[in-house]
Amino acid sequence: METMTVPSVNFHDDRSMPQLGLGTYKLYGEECISVVREAIELGYRHFDTATLYENEEALGMALNDAISAGDVTRDELFVTSKAWHDHHGAEKVQEAFTESLRKLGLDYLDLYMIHWPWPQGGLFVETFESIARLQGMGQIASVGVANFYEEPLQEIIDQTGVVPVVNQVELHPGFTQPELRRFHAEHDIITEAWSPLARGVVLSNPVIEEVAHKHSASSGQIALAYLMDKGISVIPKSAKPERLKENLGAVDVELEAADIEAIDGLEGQQGFGRMFKDPREFPGDNA
Ligand SMILES: NC(=O)c1ccc[n+]([C@@H]2O[C@H](COP(=O)([O-])OP(=O)(O)OC[C@H]3O[C@@H](n4cnc5c(N)ncnc54)[C@H](OP(=O)(O)O)[C@@H]3O)[C@@H](O)[C@H]2O)c1
Repeated sequence: METMTVPSVNFHDDRSMPQLGLGTYKLYGEECISVVREAIELGYRHFDTATLYENEEALGMALNDAISAGDVTRDELFVTSKAWHDHHGAEKVQEAFTESLRKLGLDYLDLYMIHWPWPQGGLFVETFESIARLQGMGQIASVGVANFYEEPLQEIIDQTGVVPVVNQVELHPGFTQPELRRFHAEHDIITEAWSPLARGVVLSNPVIEEVAHKHSASSGQIALAYLMDKGISVIPKSAKPERLKENLGAVDVELEAADIEAIDGLEGQQGFGRMFKDPREFPGDNA
């Protein structure tokens, strides 16, 4: 099988990450194992999980089987996980990390993130600082966050002196968070898009379909190529082999300025806003 190569994005800590990875939310057990093995054969090297997804064991099994089979080396893989709200706090996040590593069957993670800032809990600075300490011990290559916005980002930077390499946020065509991305650019933080396909919702938009037609590509490939053109990392999820291949093929799509401008025009239009909850409010006081 032909293996595709994905370009990398560079971190300010001198490491790098494949710009396109596989999201694994809602992939469980045997399905997760076979999807991940297929993805590795196709050329995926970056895999995104979290304690919340309850699939770290299955993902780890697939990765370790692929390493044993000689399909890939640990060095070539880029594996991320995240700590959930119930593991905020210095000690709890260390326990959560140790448990993630055990379930994944790995001896280090490439990137570990706080899943949501949960400002109401008041512990994100302490949690981030504790993760940064794990990096110092060599068990985490890079430190990141997810669903952070400008104020908590500034707070962790000011209070710990550590700048996360990645902020993984909801982002898709029509909702590209330009202000937050400007903040990221000022601090050399890579923007990573979760739900880059808006779970399929943006794919039937006529503007995206027209660009897809012009490039003999699929709407999914256009959505991903559009985000990658902006330097954003994308982690589309699919359980279907043909879509895994299709999504990976986005790295070969070269959009023209007019295509990008046309898709930029969808920003803020009706039906293109935030799909999930605002991290300023979620999970709120009752997490
Ligand atoms: N940090 C966070 O808070 C957070 C939140 C949500 C997600 N995430 C991460 O981001 C990843 C991706 O986000 P997501 O899973 O929410 O959404 P997504 O990747 O935008 O969309 C996935 C959905 O689109 C379908 N799909 C995939 N490729 C397609 C294609 N080429 N054409 C048409 N439909 C396609 C998939 O169905 P099939 O599987 O049937 O193909 C699935 O239903 C997650 O898996 C997770 O790793 C992080």
